[in-house]
Amino acid sequence: FATLDTLDPKGKRVLVRVDLNVPMKDGQVGDQTRIERIVPTIRELADKGGRVVLLSHFDRPKGKVVPDMSLQPIAAALATALGRPVNFVHDCVGEEAEAATRTLKDGEVLLLENTRFQPGEETNCQDMSSALARLGDVYVNDAFSAAHRAHASTAGVAGHLPSFGGRLMEAELQALFAALENPERPVGAIVGGAKISTKLELLENMLAKVNVLAIGGAMANTFLAAQGLSVGKSLKEEEMFDTARKIMDLAKSRNCDLVLPIDVVIAEELIAGAPTQVVPVTAIPDGWMALDAGPETVALLNSKLAGLKTLVWNGPLGVFELPPFDNGTNTVAQEAARLTKAGTLKTIAGGGDTVAALRHAGVLHDMTYVSTAGGAFLEWLEGKVLPGLTAISATLERTVPI
Ligand code: 3PG
Repeated sequence: FATLDTLDPKGKRVLVRVDLNVPMKDGQVGDQTRIERIVPTIRELADKGGRVVLLSHFDRPKGKVVPDMSLQPIAAALATALGRPVNFVHDCVGEEAEAATRTLKDGEVLLLENTRFQPGEETNCQDMSSALARLGDVYVNDAFSAAHRAHASTAGVAGHLPSFGGRLMEAELQALFAALENPERPVGAIVGGAKISTKLELLENMLAKVNVLAIGGAMANTFLAAQGLSVGKSLKEEEMFDTARKIMDLAKSRNCDLVLPIDVVIAEELIAGAPTQVVPVTAIPDGWMALDAGPETVALLNSKLAGLKTLVWNGPLGVFELPPFDNGTNTVAQEAARLTKAGTLKTIAGGGDTVAALRHAGVLHDMTYVSTAGGAFLEWLEGKVLPGLTAISATLERTVPI
């Protein structure tokens, strides 16, 4: 797609799709990451004399006006991050919104109300796309994290205006191409989380692309149980046993080193302060459950990291929200951070849980690249085409770097 290098925004109304779907706590922005990451695009456009009109969704109001899901409180946080005023209009289409875009001056920034208050947003209806297109002279998509949605503001509107990818969009794609399309090898992936069923396509695509695939979190229990091991009352998916066995066979035939836990931290209850034990995966007693990777598994994973040049991380290794079951994730994350800082490893991480886990481990800022995306990051890793990307680049080919 065309980047901002090819856009002269001076005097133009630049309609920019950003992702301000940020965590809120008591009416305040909880985590500023997504806001901070869109600042370069907005600042560049405004500094060059563009009249910046921002569009975003927030939460899932399902086509209705839900006052608690207004973007208004976020306008203030954005203004602080930008260091310049951000005007706000209580609608994202219609006369008031259109009039506000026409009175904007060069360098000014306007935020419109939650696009998902309109029923036409998620259905990507023509009327909504045309109504959005009337708000700008050109369209910039800087919301990689919403690019897996084929909505009016992420996809439809691009059919009506000259379209560009913003700086964050560019950075996200460059990092992902470097990680998966053209990585420095050996490349490894850590895939954690609760269920194989929700990450099946991810696992299959990773097997085709990486040299080492480490499975962590509760989904590892399903792999262990599928091999005939007893996993006590650990979370597992019996209906996925066949699939797990197929994945293990596929890994062998593709020469992909599939790494499963060899020991685990177990407890009888998932509560803070519950008594724990460390046992080999062959000795999980009835009535106990695996809640974290054990020390030998952590040492094994860390030794695998030492042999990698590129690491893709999605999903924690244990119940990191509840110490002491954060130890496995923390220790491996800290080792990945150490190698990344030493320059021997490139670590690309993404996904809501993963970002929270890396922040919890104190290493979020030590990774090579942390995606702002959750679902979109996952879909990219699954090898899916993202409608928001196709829309701004009809000719985008997955194998051709931007
Ligand atoms: C996200 O937080 O992953 C994006 O903002 C997309 O949100 P959605 O899952 O509600 O479409």
